[in-house]
Amino acid sequence: MSNTAKARPTPVASEYTPLTARNVDFEWSGTPLHWVPGDPATTHTINVLHLLLPAGERWFVHVYKQALPLIRDERLRADVLGFIGQEAMHSQAHDQVLPHLARLGLDPTPYTAQVDWFFEKLLGDRTLPPGRARDWWLLERIALIAAIEHYTAFLGDWVLGADALDRKGCDPVMLDLLRWHGAEEVEHRSVAFDLFLHVDGGYRRRVRTWGAALTALVFLWQRGIRFFMANDPTLRDGKASLREFVRAGRQGLLPRPGAIARSIPAYLSPGYHPSRECSTAQALAYLANSPAATAAEAKPTPTRSTGGA
Ligand SMILES: [Fe+2]
Ligand SMILES: [Fe+2]
Repeated sequence: MSNTAKARPTPVASEYTPLTARNVDFEWSGTPLHWVPGDPATTHTINVLHLLLPAGERWFVHVYKQALPLIRDERLRADVLGFIGQEAMHSQAHDQVLPHLARLGLDPTPYTAQVDWFFEKLLGDRTLPPGRARDWWLLERIALIAAIEHYTAFLGDWVLGADALDRKGCDPVMLDLLRWHGAEEVEHRSVAFDLFLHVDGGYRRRVRTWGAALTALVFLWQRGIRFFMANDPTLRDGKASLREFVRAGRQGLLPRPGAIARSIPAYLSPGYHPSRECSTAQALAYLANSPAATAAEAKPTPTRSTGGA
């Protein structure tokens, strides 16, 4: 463990909650292609989550299973196991949207094949040779996940409070998927950072992987929006544009660019700890009433595995 642990930021104890994976049950047959009514650009900007998260969260689970032997703290081990269970469920839930999009005429597989390659090959176990290089690579990927989780907590917090999506008349099943997932991202927002602090916590690694994660996310996200807009069967010459992104932010249908710009560097503050941002109480309040989570809870025999890659 790095001696940087001495300077570790203090978590807010009241924001801690033990984690369990919740079963969910979504029925997609009634969800329209443009589930943000009359707004394909916003629909597809958010739809990119369905392209990135199945492979991305499978990758989280895959990396964290390798990290388990490095953990010397029982509560952190329990948190990481809870995190693994939740991320595996998120991956499955977003994966189940993809066949529905294909039925609506928008086949995502050309893009998801690229995303699968990105996570399974480029960020896979064999990118570096066995030995010290591969040990370094595991620590690097643990830090990358901590940086990505900073952004997923930001998005989760945003979507929990994005009342404009309700006023716009967005599809309730999609909103529930986004808010159930977003609430669990807020609920487990400290786990990846705590694991990073536990196994290394070095500031240079934090900065390096923050930059890499941000670059990769921006690259993959804008490509995903362009893919959806170009292949949407209802659009003629559909294109992604920064203007549309800013417009949707002003309307509260996407995060405002200013809020994104302020949030991103917060991760680099020496005193940063995820428990100092967002609200566990708000997340738990949503999860207690999420239609998908409560419907699955009511079923007598949940059958889905929480295992991962
Ligand atoms: Fe997730
Ligand atoms: Fe997460």
